[in-house]
Amino acid sequence: MADRVFCIDFGSAFTKVALRRDPGADTELLTSRVEGIGAEFCIPTVAALDRTAARLVPEFGTKAVNRTPGNGIEVYQNWKKWVFAVPEATSQSQAPPLELFLQAEETNHLASKFGVSGGQLTQLRQLVATARILTGGPGGRVVSPEAQQHTFAATLAPHFFRWLREVVLDACTRLKTTGLKFEDIPVRVTVPAFGHGKDPEGHPGSKLLTDALAKAGWRLHPDRPAVSEPYSNAVGILTKGSNVLQKSRVQLGAMFGKGPLITVLKDSAHHPAYRAVVIDVGAFTTDFAAVSLDTDGKTIDDPDVAFAVRQHSVPLGVTDLDTRVVEALPEAQGAWLRKAKSLDWEDFRRAAYGEGKGLRRAEIGVIGGPSDAAVRDSLAAFVAQLVAEVEKFCSALDPVQVQELILTGGGSAVPAVRDAVQQAAQVGGQNYAKIHALGIKKTVGSATAVSKLDEQFTRGGSALGGASLYFEKEYY
Ligand SMILES: Nc1ncnc2c1ncn2[C@@H]1O[C@H](COP(=O)(O)OP(=O)(O)OP(=O)(O)O)[C@@H](O)[C@H]1O
Ligand SMILES: [Mg+2]
Repeated sequence: MADRVFCIDFGSAFTKVALRRDPGADTELLTSRVEGIGAEFCIPTVAALDRTAARLVPEFGTKAVNRTPGNGIEVYQNWKKWVFAVPEATSQSQAPPLELFLQAEETNHLASKFGVSGGQLTQLRQLVATARILTGGPGGRVVSPEAQQHTFAATLAPHFFRWLREVVLDACTRLKTTGLKFEDIPVRVTVPAFGHGKDPEGHPGSKLLTDALAKAGWRLHPDRPAVSEPYSNAVGILTKGSNVLQKSRVQLGAMFGKGPLITVLKDSAHHPAYRAVVIDVGAFTTDFAAVSLDTDGKTIDDPDVAFAVRQHSVPLGVTDLDTRVVEALPEAQGAWLRKAKSLDWEDFRRAAYGEGKGLRRAEIGVIGGPSDAAVRDSLAAFVAQLVAEVEKFCSALDPVQVQELILTGGGSAVPAVRDAVQQAAQVGGQNYAKIHALGIKKTVGSATAVSKLDEQFTRGGSALGGASLYFEKEYY
């Protein structure tokens, strides 16, 4: 049990941190002083390495988002995926391309053409084979690029969380709360709901993160240091970050507010079943959660016991759209984007995907905008891929009397994405009493009501929910 807790939603693009500073206090998102990159509570996860510096120390925050990659500067905008890529060693029989090239008959011909002696060629081959054994460790096991990336992420993560700890403790000094020792408050981290049986929190990537947090000086939550992103997001949005305690008991009824869920809870005879479907389109993953409550006509005092959660994360997000766009653009524009700093990328996504007017820069003209087929077609292809995943998830859900649809994540801020996901979620006649999304004015399809979410809830739902009293079982 923890009376107070931080929740870190370690996002691929942006990390969000929430704090529940007392058992019954509403959860709040912490704001950073990283400048110029959207909402104040969105802390860029981007890392930069300056290989030209005397000491190799990773940079984060304002410094990292302003770094231009190239000339010894490396910028990592999407390293979260390496945390969750489970590495497999390349088998011995699969020699790397360089060795295959050196062994090839054609190389012998080339050697003689350029006057390279047989002895020199043999030595070159031995040199490369030795280097392979040395870098592969004992037994000459070859380290795959995935394994190298995973190791890199494992090395980077403690640095990131140490830096984040400074940012968070600094943010706490600006809160209107006195007498709290923020350094002692434990932390929980949110993780994608990738397979791994029924236990996303047991994924090796999840262990990597909790280990890194501990190394960086954070105290882990004693019972549940990790919680899945879709589940915590659903809780965050449905409770709106509120925590209610009465006589030391959690009041879930009050926390889940006035929405359709509470109508079901209060009048279970007429509305025996309820479901909230949450779809979060992030930078790295799209997360699905279906939180269902089947009262079977009975009155339910403790919804947590009766809640069934079905959840699923797929590795498909806004960075996949970015990759498509870079490949589809004319060479000069693609090259400019590849070398753009994170701040420019952020402007680009908003201008080209979100607003649809495109990004104008003196060096490269306009990228995106109404007449840019490269961006338009890439967006359409990405949306089609996303729609297939939404249909797969939603068509597997049994019919239910009352259900709500909640769209979150930065990707849902893109109108074309939001509208397509809304429509696809209605596959097979799925009907929603209410649709919640950022900037939504009208529904696509059959839904009866809309609720405009603000940016705090659209982007901060997982951090808010992960710090909820809902996850503290001792208060039940
Ligand atoms: N208004 C907008 N228009 C276009 N793109 C946007 C907008 N707002 C945010 N984005 C982009 O949406 C992406 C997803 O943002 P989000 O904060 O949900 O990602 P994340 O939580 O870091 O990713 P993940 O959950 O997959 O790890 C980011 O790449 C961000 O740049
Ligand atoms: Mg996210």
